[in-house]
Amino acid sequence: MKLEFCLVLLHILLLSPLPSTSESSDKRLRILGAFAHPGKSHFAVFKPLLEELANRGHDVTVISYFPRSNSSPPLPNYKDIDLAGEDNIFVEVVDLQTLDYSLLREFMLLRHWGLECCQRSLDNKDVQRLIKSNAKFDLIITEVFNSDCFLGFVHRFKAPFIGLSSHVLMPWANGRLSNERNPSYVPILFLGYGPKMGFMERVENYLAHKIFNFAYGVFCNGPTQKLVEEAFGPNVPALDDIAKNISAILVNSHYSLHGAAPNLPNIVEVGGLHIPEKHQPLPADIQKFLDDASEGVVFFSWGSMIKASSMDQRTLGEVLQALGSIPWKVLWKWEDEHLPGKPDNVMVKKWVPQAAILRHPNVKCYLAHGGLLGLSEGVSAGVPMVVVPMYGDQFNNAAAARSRGVAQVLEWNNLNGKTLKAAIDRVFNDPTYMENAKALQKVWHDRPMSPVETSVWWAEYVGRGQSNQFLRTAAADLAWYQLEHLDVIGFLLLILLVVIFAFYKALIVIFRKIFPPEKRVNGNSLSKKRN
Ligand SMILES: *[C@@H]1O[C@H](CO)[C@@H](O)[C@H](O)[C@H]1NC(C)=O
Repeated sequence: MKLEFCLVLLHILLLSPLPSTSESSDKRLRILGAFAHPGKSHFAVFKPLLEELANRGHDVTVISYFPRSNSSPPLPNYKDIDLAGEDNIFVEVVDLQTLDYSLLREFMLLRHWGLECCQRSLDNKDVQRLIKSNAKFDLIITEVFNSDCFLGFVHRFKAPFIGLSSHVLMPWANGRLSNERNPSYVPILFLGYGPKMGFMERVENYLAHKIFNFAYGVFCNGPTQKLVEEAFGPNVPALDDIAKNISAILVNSHYSLHGAAPNLPNIVEVGGLHIPEKHQPLPADIQKFLDDASEGVVFFSWGSMIKASSMDQRTLGEVLQALGSIPWKVLWKWEDEHLPGKPDNVMVKKWVPQAAILRHPNVKCYLAHGGLLGLSEGVSAGVPMVVVPMYGDQFNNAAAARSRGVAQVLEWNNLNGKTLKAAIDRVFNDPTYMENAKALQKVWHDRPMSPVETSVWWAEYVGRGQSNQFLRTAAADLAWYQLEHLDVIGFLLLILLVVIFAFYKALIVIFRKIFPPEKRVNGNSLSKKRN
């Protein structure tokens, strides 16, 4: 008996390979990352994933405006296709004096950038060489934002692909996958509404959802299709149809901040993907400034795109007056070395390691603009905020932070010394802001895997390839009117009409039976007689 058992065991051990616990290490994947948008705050979200994939031994080729070139540590598996060098990236391009936000302007701007960046990158010699090459890829990673330009590569290399979104999903990304985003409680990222909307806000949100979905297909993908066909050949399928084949989308959001909402299994929240787990030590002067401020510090930064120093003199005067009048120190990311009229409690720095500063225990308030990267860093560090949203998704992010009770939101157009000082005072003096920020911080961090590990898992999962056909929803094969149940509603309405009509006809027949025509004539004559 015993010998038999041993033999069976030996047989099992020798003949059947042990199930691998980490399948990921089995296959070295050839990965193409293709990113046409020059926004630094977008690529900052993608970079940790791309680097970690190379770090784990996969071959990663990245088309972007942000080559690693000499970055350390060196990653021999990471190859760059540099789109244009540092000259064309979007840093400090938003001038506060010409800032004039409207939904239509926002859409037109996104469309314009999308087409221009598509054209520029497809004109790039190295990109053209790649298109003509006989390279092979197991996985393509691209951005889900304002252009589907690089879906041409999906057609060209016939590889499974995933999308990355550095912000809350664009309405068209949800729409094409039929990821249910009920506009009754899921605000579109272009509006400044939280999950709880009034009636007119819901009307606006509903219309914006529908209109943006439609407009993207017509005004963005229409002309992009032409550019893609010029570069990849005339038989590229409709970009919208290629897009429906996406295997997963990794989104830089988390329900703890933006609100719980249904997601398909392949729409994965990895909010905070860009935030490193370990931080470099702070520069000595900043460290000392923060250490010496046990009464608390306001950290003031409006991100990489906005040029704070383009603020008009009146607003700047109001801001300086407010900051000078509070009993706390202020550390301000300001793009000039000098700030005329700088109050004594304020330190200005051209460049700051923002995420590390926010983690300093003396930072008690973050004066932000609501860009998702900074906002996530604030949430991750458990710091309450005063947010002055200005464009893009900032209104939506600010509203999300307000709805979680961690932020005061101010309007840029009405920003003055009084409102700013009142908001900062409130965040320092009302303890609920700090309590909510600490509670939110806990939920934000409490996840099965870190955002980077989650993203790497999904990239390798899709790259292995067995699962992709299981991920695609049947919705991808339905027409829009089927998805909106218009055919079903039409059919049911038709039945209802038939039933009503039959009922009406039957009533007439019954009526005639009970009151035959002669009787009614009699009745009439009777009443006439009465008169
Ligand atoms: C989507 O994927 C399926 C299955 O791999 C493929 O047959 C189809 O051609 C793809 N559609 C487009 C438009 O690329």
